[in-house]
Amino acid sequence: MIRSVVLGVGSSLPRRVMKNTDLEGVVETSDEWIIQRTGIRQRYIAADDETTASLGEAAARAALASAGLTADDIDLIVLATSTPNNTFPATAVEIQERLGMRHGFAFDMQAVCSGFVYAVTTADLYIRGGLAKRVLVIGSETFSRILDWKDRSTCVLFGDGAGAVVLEAAEGEGTVADRGVLAQSLRSDGSHKEKLYVDGGPSTTGTVGHLRMEGREVFKHAVGMITDVIEETFSQAGITADDLDWFVPHQANKRIIDASAKKLGIAEQKVVVTVDLHGNTSAASVPLALSVAVGDGRIKKGDLVLLEAMGGGFTWGAVLIRW
Ligand code: UT7
Repeated sequence: MIRSVVLGVGSSLPRRVMKNTDLEGVVETSDEWIIQRTGIRQRYIAADDETTASLGEAAARAALASAGLTADDIDLIVLATSTPNNTFPATAVEIQERLGMRHGFAFDMQAVCSGFVYAVTTADLYIRGGLAKRVLVIGSETFSRILDWKDRSTCVLFGDGAGAVVLEAAEGEGTVADRGVLAQSLRSDGSHKEKLYVDGGPSTTGTVGHLRMEGREVFKHAVGMITDVIEETFSQAGITADDLDWFVPHQANKRIIDASAKKLGIAEQKVVVTVDLHGNTSAASVPLALSVAVGDGRIKKGDLVLLEAMGGGFTWGAVLIRW
């Protein structure tokens, strides 16, 4: 059977680092509160000339280089983002143009923090359906543009950045020993809209709006939702937590990551944590974490890697990949 194998990974961050102490002058907060409640120590904030398209392009170029490919080799670009450069056209199409790609097709996916997990699943289905051979899957965000910088309960949590992977069609045996995407589970439930949303949009206010979140409410649901979809992928693949080499969760809060790993019985040393470095970068968080763990040699060819995310909507999902 056809499998979607990861050929390369890359990332890009804005030039400017914002430490927790830098936020102490913006809202009433402290380095101590942010670290204790979230695990975040710093985040990157995009300058005016750094956009979702430019960060996404840089991450895509890095992923292509690590795969030993060029944009000529790509059939499809799927960009996960909630902070597009424009309402339309899709920012994926702008990245296609920036990469000098005049063939194939490109589109955006909007599943907020779960965007990358949704995009990998979508790309896998395009590959297995025979509509594409090589897909660039990007998560790129500039959440700093939609934050209310007077709201301390949200503005300290998020950051900007981008990550990308290249997936390629390859022949597999149809077993869990195959390289590539092995299992996935996606969920959404719109009844939770008010807990995490942006209070503007083209069809309602005609403005971009600001992120609003009832953090405690999101927190309450997160661990149960995340572990449900992960257990579903374990049962699809016929594996247990012990078979995993790496757990690469959405990077929203170290306490959510720790509680999810504990509930699933995933050993602490298998968990990739980058929330301290990047903050919550929404759809970019999982590919940024992947890029760090591949770059420092932790994730290697043949490793069993579990991705998960949960966010606005609510949306949530998990993907199991043999690297
Ligand atoms: O990526 C999408 C998914 N999003 C998430 O997963 C986020 C989930 N939620 C969370 O990560 C946590 O709920 C937060 C980090 C947002 C908040 O942590 P918490 O332990 O749930 O704190 P809380 O909201 O219950 O607030 C505790 C206290 C409050 O003060 P009082 O009412 O107890 O006097 C807040 O006003 O902390 C206060 N507070 C702050 N204090 C200093 C809220 N924000 C800040 C701040 N600095 N930045």
